[in-house]
Amino acid sequence: MAVTPRELESEFRQIFKSCAQPAIYRAPGRVNLMGEHTDYNQGLVCPIALEMACYIAVAPAQHDALRIHSAELGETREFPIAKIADAEPQRNWTDYVVGVARLLVRNGVALTPSDLYIHSDVPRGSGLSSSAALEVSASLSLLAGRPMDRREIAQLCRRAESEFVGMPCGIMDQYTSLFGTEGAAIQIDCRNLTHIEVKLPAGLQVIAVNSMVKHELASSAYSQRVAECAQAVSELRAFQPGIASLRDVSVKVFEEVQDSLSPVPRKRARHIITDIARVLDFAAAARANDVREMGRLFIAAHRSMQYDYEITSDEIDFLVDTAIKMKGVYGARMTGGGFGGCTVNLVDPNFAEDFAEQITAAYRKRHGKTPLFYDCQPGASASRVK
Ligand code: GLA
Repeated sequence: MAVTPRELESEFRQIFKSCAQPAIYRAPGRVNLMGEHTDYNQGLVCPIALEMACYIAVAPAQHDALRIHSAELGETREFPIAKIADAEPQRNWTDYVVGVARLLVRNGVALTPSDLYIHSDVPRGSGLSSSAALEVSASLSLLAGRPMDRREIAQLCRRAESEFVGMPCGIMDQYTSLFGTEGAAIQIDCRNLTHIEVKLPAGLQVIAVNSMVKHELASSAYSQRVAECAQAVSELRAFQPGIASLRDVSVKVFEEVQDSLSPVPRKRARHIITDIARVLDFAAAARANDVREMGRLFIAAHRSMQYDYEITSDEIDFLVDTAIKMKGVYGARMTGGGFGGCTVNLVDPNFAEDFAEQITAAYRKRHGKTPLFYDCQPGASASRVK
């Protein structure tokens, strides 16, 4: 944790001019290892929760509002509790917190007037799920110890993001923040909201590389992909009536009928259907300690995102193409929603230093930017910090 609980408490007191003893909640970001955009297609994903997390120091207060402060932006905003149920989006960072608060109230949770001090070390706009970390940490802070089923919290946070923030995301990020496991990846079934642990082989380092680029069209292109998948489902019903999502179509059936689909839905469906299969193959390779196969699947997944789902960017493709030519790198792929953000790399720890040096030099030369590197150890799920 980049900041200590004591520091958070003292910053809380300073900002809110309060002498209350705040509780501190932590919710991690995630890096996804396999299964991209498969979550809203009811498919499988295989992420790890990160050590990087969003922290909120929260205490009940004497006013009648939620006062929320973002340490990163140095801004404080206030929302009267009485009006939260009918709050309108502000189109800024507060929407993640108010969107969650609004749904909690609508679900019958009586919110207490409170002060919330937010400090996140999940880099924003990098594909490591800073939004879900904020939503989950806000929900635990606002529940303030009242029990709620973790699956319900994940669904509530996802709904807040899709209905209030306006990003029609799947459940992977929120679920991972609430169910991630120290020391293992999790394979999530996004249809029935269950997961199993996937231990990663020893002697393998997972390194995320931040391209420092986030393209503006990310959110509208995401919605467009959601719509294109729905289109693919409706075309595929001609061959397999009764399917609810792309999850229901096997690679074999898809290959038999793909020539009859229109070109764009065909490509999108091909990515989703093969990526769901790759999650199972990846988990099997991890169990067999087959790092080469894991790396091969990484590269196949990247090409599928690059050519079929069309969600990569020049910077990201360059980072992947450079990485996979290097000694000690088993595989590389983009991670997260796309159009910039991070790549994730499977690296032999003996080569981790060379990896960072060479990628930095090459990326600076080609794109004039300095990438950031994150060593991704599987971290624990969201909880109160004692
Ligand atoms: C974003 C969304 C997730 C998921 C990924 C892509 O992170 O929030 O639900 O769709 O993109 O896999």
